[in-house]
Amino acid sequence: MRILVTGGAGYIGSVATETLVGQGHAVLVFDNLQQGHEEALEPGAAFVRGDLRDAAAISSAIGDFRPDAVMHFAANSLVGESMRDPFAYLGDNVVAALNLLRAMDAHGVQRIILSSTANLFADPLKMPIEEDERIIPGSPYGESKGIIERLLHWLSVTRGLRYACLRYFNAAGATERHGEDHDPELHLIPLVLRVALGQRDSISIFGDDYPTPDGTCIRDYIHVLDLIDAHVLALHALEQGNRIYNLGNGRGFSVRQVIDTAERVTGRKIAVKVAARRPGDPAVLVAGREKIRRELGWQPRHPDLEAIVRTAWHWHSRHPHGYRQA
Ligand SMILES: NC(=O)c1ccc[n+]([C@@H]2O[C@H](COP(=O)([O-])OP(=O)(O)OC[C@H]3O[C@@H](n4cnc5c(N)ncnc54)[C@H](O)[C@@H]3O)[C@@H](O)[C@H]2O)c1
Repeated sequence: MRILVTGGAGYIGSVATETLVGQGHAVLVFDNLQQGHEEALEPGAAFVRGDLRDAAAISSAIGDFRPDAVMHFAANSLVGESMRDPFAYLGDNVVAALNLLRAMDAHGVQRIILSSTANLFADPLKMPIEEDERIIPGSPYGESKGIIERLLHWLSVTRGLRYACLRYFNAAGATERHGEDHDPELHLIPLVLRVALGQRDSISIFGDDYPTPDGTCIRDYIHVLDLIDAHVLALHALEQGNRIYNLGNGRGFSVRQVIDTAERVTGRKIAVKVAARRPGDPAVLVAGREKIRRELGWQPRHPDLEAIVRTAWHWHSRHPHGYRQA
């Protein structure tokens, strides 16, 4: 197939591109490099440096490449930033998606997989979180993804678009070539590994008095390769209808477990500072994975936290300053 990957120079998009090229697909990466890295571009994929907020740029890329399907990873995706700058989310993320969808429509491209988020579920009634959970976005970021999910719904009804929304929990881990290199980095595993590398003095635990076995928050970490497996399965399943899945490991790990695991994997001591709880952090967030297992046969191949952290450490210890030293 011919697949357009927006955000293919970023963390998850670069792993998607590596996988798709490896499977023999023709891939075009469209990325403005605001957060992505030139060094993360896959040599076997074509690349257009462009911004999705520029309607003409994405339209001409789609017109030239003529993809069969799109994987849409490109977005602003920092929850905290979205509280300070809602327009970058309710504005830019939505405008970027609209430009992409309009260009797809104009060129007859009818299949899309959206990177959605667990941030749709700020106040879940049940754990693990199933797909029928009520949607209460936790931030303008989550809201922007919810709006894009609804755009897909209506373009499916009115224009015959086929779509899958994959609501990721916490993507983690690395491949041999691609790892996580965000600026700023706010994700727990790379931050803990920076302490192991001696680049940070300590890692903060925001609250150790939650109603969990060790008092720290429990989250669901899914290996980035498992996440991409789900994209490929969802893409092939679009012929049988649209898809919405919560996408996680289905197992929760506490902040303390992540830190202990990183100490074991790296063989280094990781200093910890206990700080106050952050407002809006629920005690536990874990994805239900039954629907995607039943419908697509998807199972995580790397469900074990230690294996996830080991792949991340393998990448970070060889790229201590991220792609800058790749
Ligand atoms: N990392 C996670 O744990 C996680 C969890 C839930 C959802 N997601 C979603 O998955 C997607 C990928 O996440 P990631 O961690 O790889 O992010 P990332 O920031 O590493 O990658 C996003 C890429 O999109 C590009 N981009 C952003 N805005 C653009 C624009 N207007 N035009 C062109 N390119 C643009 C950036 O340069 C970057 O390369 C995002 O949509 C994010 O919201 C990620």
